[in-house]
Amino acid sequence: MTQKAPPSDALVFFGATGDLAYKKIFPALQSMAKRGQLTFPVIGVAKSGWNNDQLIERAKASVKAYGGLDEEAFKVLASKLRYVDGDYNGLETFTALKAILDKENATHPTHYLAIPPSLFPTVIQRLAESGCAKNGRVVVEKPFGRDLESARALNEVVHQAFDESSIFRIDHYLGKEPVQNILYFRFGNSFLEPIWNRNYIENVQITMAESFGVSGRGKFYDETGVIRDVIQNHLLQVVGFLAMEAPSSGSPDAIRDEQAKVLRTVRSLDTAHMVRGQFRGYRDEPGVAKDSYIGTYAALKLYIDSWRWAGVPFFVRGGKALQKTVTEVVVELKTPPQVVFHEAAFSQGNYVRFRLGPEVEIAIGARAKRPGDGMAGRPVELKVVQDNKGDEMDAYERLLGDAMDGDPTLFARYDTVEAAWRIVDPVIHGSSDLWEYEPGSWGPHQADRLVADVGGWHSPE
Ligand code: BG6
Repeated sequence: MTQKAPPSDALVFFGATGDLAYKKIFPALQSMAKRGQLTFPVIGVAKSGWNNDQLIERAKASVKAYGGLDEEAFKVLASKLRYVDGDYNGLETFTALKAILDKENATHPTHYLAIPPSLFPTVIQRLAESGCAKNGRVVVEKPFGRDLESARALNEVVHQAFDESSIFRIDHYLGKEPVQNILYFRFGNSFLEPIWNRNYIENVQITMAESFGVSGRGKFYDETGVIRDVIQNHLLQVVGFLAMEAPSSGSPDAIRDEQAKVLRTVRSLDTAHMVRGQFRGYRDEPGVAKDSYIGTYAALKLYIDSWRWAGVPFFVRGGKALQKTVTEVVVELKTPPQVVFHEAAFSQGNYVRFRLGPEVEIAIGARAKRPGDGMAGRPVELKVVQDNKGDEMDAYERLLGDAMDGDPTLFARYDTVEAAWRIVDPVIHGSSDLWEYEPGSWGPHQADRLVADVGGWHSPE
């Protein structure tokens, strides 16, 4: 049973002058202020040589760029912001942080590590040495580790300073409304369960396409690549929600138990079931090595060795600089036997489609008779949910609020993280082909071979 801890009384975030803070954290904090929930000091830590005013300026630029400035709410946010400057290696940075926490009477801080993964061990160690970790909790950004072995090592480091109930491994996909809706739609209805298995499902495709490149994050991305950036975490969590057995209840651990269980039955990948790509021009991005062999695109064919899913391929692809920004799941059902209508050009059968972003949709693909003579059909779509509310900011806002409240439901449990690393571990080590693709395309055409038997990719419209 997961115990709910007392709420935190300060938020400390490392990487305050960085990209993640700029794009997601300040806008989320302003939204919390708007809802009257920013009642604690927010202490930004970085080594940029800034002062409080510069941090406030940065926060203002951030909310203007992402979501819009709300004068009243921003005033609250600005009044809560404090800045600590210093090197993450130096204990004095953490002594200064402790002094601020003491001044604010904060005894249960939440430390959010919005910093490159290579810095996690140092920061965690210093938090412990300086006393800042005491009675606190830690929020760790993904990817948690670089592979299976380093994830295990990192987990040990984190456990030296924090116990499991105080560790919050963030995967913002788990905080996304449409991702949670996959779970709800599956288990809140009775009509899907009878067909949600190898007897009726032909294949599952998950596409996470982004039309932009690495936009200023070249250094981070060139150490990470697409598999560690979005596949090991976001997309495998989606696979888990699509494929898991019904949890025994809605409790956080019941859901996370099933998530871990299903990921443990996904077969480890080999390079024959993967195609990697790199968009033309990637190597000219600032921070990227001129001879970089990092993939900005990957397509995978996964198998789940379980009673429910034996033989059903799950195709997963993600990439930067593709034709459009869209994340979508298509669960394709088997075609009916052609013994009644004998339609030669039976191009599209039944499917369930979850559009996870930027729009939010759930649709069922069916066939209906085309008006006129003869019994010929055409594809139609029954759209069961359409909600155009963007949710990027909501995910961070929700997760930050949950971490401050000590609610672990939407955070990745270590066994799930480890199960996901086990799946990709064989292909992130060693060599594999890397194909160049044109920015604005759907990735390297070599990826088509993975889906040759199922009629090709469903590229979202
Ligand atoms: C992040 C990745 O975790 O997710 C980014 O580091 C990616 O590379 C982003 O762009 C996508 O998130 P969202 O919420 O915009 O789909």
